[in-house]
Amino acid sequence: MAITHVKGPLPGPRSRELLDTWHSYEADVTGFQAPVVWETARGCQVTDVDGNVFLDWTSGVLVASVGHCHPHLVQAVQQAATQILNNYECANVQRIQAAKRLVEALPPHLDKCFFLTTGSEATEAAARLMRRATARYELLSFIGGFHGRTYGAASMGGMAGPKRGYGPSLPGIIRAPFPNPYRDPEGWCTGGPKYKRYFDHLDLIIEANATGPLAGLIVEPYQGANGFVFPPAGWLKRLEEWARARGMLVTLDEVQASYGRTGRMWAMEHEGLKPDIVTIGKAIGCGVPVSAVAATSQVFSCLQKGEMSSTLGGNPMASAGVMAVLDIFEKEKLVENSAAMGAYMLERLQALGARSRYLGDVRGMGLVIGLEFVKDKETREPAKDLARRVIVDSANQGLLVGSVGMYGNVIRVAPPLVITKDEADESLAIMERVVMGLEG
Ligand SMILES: Cc1ncc(COP(=O)(O)O)c(C=O)c1O
Repeated sequence: MAITHVKGPLPGPRSRELLDTWHSYEADVTGFQAPVVWETARGCQVTDVDGNVFLDWTSGVLVASVGHCHPHLVQAVQQAATQILNNYECANVQRIQAAKRLVEALPPHLDKCFFLTTGSEATEAAARLMRRATARYELLSFIGGFHGRTYGAASMGGMAGPKRGYGPSLPGIIRAPFPNPYRDPEGWCTGGPKYKRYFDHLDLIIEANATGPLAGLIVEPYQGANGFVFPPAGWLKRLEEWARARGMLVTLDEVQASYGRTGRMWAMEHEGLKPDIVTIGKAIGCGVPVSAVAATSQVFSCLQKGEMSSTLGGNPMASAGVMAVLDIFEKEKLVENSAAMGAYMLERLQALGARSRYLGDVRGMGLVIGLEFVKDKETREPAKDLARRVIVDSANQGLLVGSVGMYGNVIRVAPPLVITKDEADESLAIMERVVMGLEG
């Protein structure tokens, strides 16, 4: 029997009424979404206020990796909330235990962490650490990168959205191209295993723009907001070597890529990267607001007491969430499920790509898969309108998806990592119908 169930075209009557109320009071400035008001969500399934049932390929925005409202997580947070809600920097048991658990889950060289609340805040902290630890100022980041919407984080990003219309970005940030195998007019993905062409160009960019030696760089293992763009194999490793040779620190932004999303606990494991600093968000709390910056002790040693803090960072509820999420990952083998279900879904979606006139590229790792829509497979002209149609048509058939990308033409396939084979099959069948329905 089908899991999903949608009565009539969306929005349903109750959703319509609530969306009108919402937009009367809260500024309507969020991104394009299917017109659905969520009421409850469990695992991979979402029920809206009209009783429609959907499968979820969004996980919020790659947040609910243990599934929506996992009972162990809910119970841990409820229990912590009855004890202490917030005590700022004063020690609490949950924070101490959560720090130990997080560091134990990280690769051994990252032996210290600090809890914050959002991914953007972790980005800001990483930038401060890179500058303070090296006593240098300038940073390298990448075109198409996204590290958050606070001012410093937006400045480090390379997407128009968070910046356009806001005046100058922070000075001292140099941006370089991020190699995109699907859109590579300059040939950055070529040049042999050492990507010579790319790194010669990078040297030129630094030479032309830097006022002195750089403090460090920040890079995503794959560009999330830019449309799930995966750099070619070995490029990240080469970038790390390039940075080391210049005495720069390396920050890997694992805010969305960590916690099994790519089929490994940490995306850095795929190429054995050894970043000095890692930013962590989203799935670290699976819905509980928490983020962290992790680094080597040596990097953190640049800070004096009192130099890093945040009102809600490490609060007992968030810390209980961090521990519960790690419990669930271990017990339910979610990293393994991500790798196995991801490979299965990628294969089915690539077969769909081969049949479709408009699905120009299907790429992914674990349970982060991008479906890039184009007007024409030859010209690869981005088709944002088709991506929007896919969002609406999928929701009408019982599947929730979102879009990303510099051109807004990439559909995100990022279900909770607990997705079962039955849920995968039903949701894939919906996507297959929707995509083939674009042909007519
Ligand atoms: C790679 C990456 N870094 C940082 C952020 C910012 O996180 P937040 O929205 O929690 O501030 C995001 C959010 O989407 C992200 O994808």
